[in-house]
Amino acid sequence: MLDWQKEISQLPERISELQGAHYFPSLDSTNLKARALGREDIPAPFVVVAGAQTAGRGRMGRSWESPSELGLYFSLWCRPELSPSEAPLLTLATGLAIKRVLLDLGIPNPLIKWPNDILVNGKKVSGVLAEMDTQRNEILGVILGVGINLFEEKTDFPEELQEIAGSLKAWLKDDFNLIDFLGNILSGIFSQIHQIEKDHGKALIQAWEQESGIIGQSLKVERAGQSIQGEVQGLSPEGHLKLKTPEGKVLALLAEDTTLI
Ligand code: BTN
Repeated sequence: MLDWQKEISQLPERISELQGAHYFPSLDSTNLKARALGREDIPAPFVVVAGAQTAGRGRMGRSWESPSELGLYFSLWCRPELSPSEAPLLTLATGLAIKRVLLDLGIPNPLIKWPNDILVNGKKVSGVLAEMDTQRNEILGVILGVGINLFEEKTDFPEELQEIAGSLKAWLKDDFNLIDFLGNILSGIFSQIHQIEKDHGKALIQAWEQESGIIGQSLKVERAGQSIQGEVQGLSPEGHLKLKTPEGKVLALLAEDTTLI
């Protein structure tokens, strides 16, 4: 089993931007811990990793199953030179960074389902929960929380998730290195952050449109108690998803959950 305490200390040596890497065998939630540490003003950016979470949080108030050593649970706390309105671009950047690392591992056709679920073989293997601390119109800190199902078997998921959740287990080779995996995702996120600070999302939006795999797909979204269907057209410059309805109307989705149809 990986000696996290020892190995995680190498990460800041390998990733120049990273000022700290903290591992805890168990936490309520890495997002909560990262927020608490961020408010203590410890050197940043930093990453918090947990072996297990007892109250892992998902989007829309949902929970995130975080059994011990079966998945990767981490939160990156950073303070990019961006305005709060540009922060949604960071969640797109995170999804893209994860997808690229999965492709590098030879995992077939990872799909980014809006806003940033990663599906493999039609099953969700990863999710991102982005949170932000702001003061007036300034970002104090952004928390990019990532959960990736790595080694779960079907029966490791609660029954209600067994048809929709999956893990990467079938594709991970014997030489899979979890620290390299985490390091590669963090490096990918940092390089996107630098790019967004320079061009305010132009390159990211183009890359996301080309690589997400979702352009042209049909989606369903629930809005004000109504189910709306449409075809994904692309992203707006602010990073909202453009969905064209059969009536020809173009909706901009901010961070609403969607279902592929
Ligand atoms: C979602 O798809 O709903 C987002 C799930 C995000 C889960 C991760 S696990 C690490 C970090 N800490 C949390 O409490 N949540 C995120």
